[in-house]
Amino acid sequence: MTDDVNREREPEEIWGGSWTEKKLDAFSKYVWAYISIMKRNKYWKTIYFDGFAGSGNRKDKRNSKLYQQLHFTSEEESGYKGAAERVLNLKDGLTFDYYYFIDKDESTIKKLEKNLNKKCDLKDKRLVFKSGDANKWVTELAKALRTNKYAALIFLDPFGMQINWDSISSLTDTRSDIWILVPTGIIVNRLLDRKGELKHIEKLESFFGLPEEEIKEYFYHLKTENTLFGDEEIIFKITRPIEKIARLYVRQLKTIWTHVTENPLRLSNSKGVPIFHLVFASNNKQAAKIANQIIKTL
Ligand SMILES: C[S@@+](CC[C@H](N)C(=O)[O-])C[C@H]1O[C@@H](n2cnc3c(N)ncnc32)[C@H](O)[C@@H]1O
Repeated sequence: MTDDVNREREPEEIWGGSWTEKKLDAFSKYVWAYISIMKRNKYWKTIYFDGFAGSGNRKDKRNSKLYQQLHFTSEEESGYKGAAERVLNLKDGLTFDYYYFIDKDESTIKKLEKNLNKKCDLKDKRLVFKSGDANKWVTELAKALRTNKYAALIFLDPFGMQINWDSISSLTDTRSDIWILVPTGIIVNRLLDRKGELKHIEKLESFFGLPEEEIKEYFYHLKTENTLFGDEEIIFKITRPIEKIARLYVRQLKTIWTHVTENPLRLSNSKGVPIFHLVFASNNKQAAKIANQIIKTL
């Protein structure tokens, strides 16, 4: 079951499309603004933390059936710049004090390290590459942040529902700014089946950090219908569920951070259907203002 909901199973029209660029564009703009401001503040040591770093390459998907259907040109393949490369090659030579790159696959994180060595100037930069589950490493990061010496910019960019609410909530009361890719349309909405049977309720609970009753109450309502056999209670899924999934996630993030983007960046497939929402949260009002402005311009 877990594999099913976490699998990168984007249909043809959405992988590698313009939504990926839009996401990385928003994020890179924010990183630049963030580090420009933080560099003026000497008190905090800055950490860049990427929990789903990937290999930095699209070509890794070349052997999959899905990838072959996409017919990328060689320019598109070789032109891909993942988040790690963008952050390490920021304009104006802006740098963080520490960089952490995590990926569950050891071979992927090794490839990323090799790639970055080729494409970026890593001299004088402190980089750490770790394999393993991002949830575990986010919790470790949260412990380090409690020493009050570090400020972290966190990027969580999975395709599935890999991030558990427990790891998000471990960041309570830390100096952290976070961007999270929420698979609103592509996965969460599919788990909320029309009849409210919720076969993957444990996954939904650990994702939202909410009990079954609250999830059901939020996404479904009961109506009494007059049928041939008398009155019957029928369960209905709410309208515009994808936007409401994003809204619920924002509501939950507000229990951890004081400023959360009310209108996250909506990322849609070529048919205009939202597949992900990119959400931002911080305890800093100015940071949230910048994130909102970036989102509005895209
Ligand atoms: C969307 S890709 C990352 C793209 C990358 N941020 C970029 O800008 O190119 C997602 C990555 O997350 C990794 N991944 C999946 N589940 C994970 C988990 N539980 N913990 C850490 N990494 C995970 C996958 O191996 C994959 O490389």
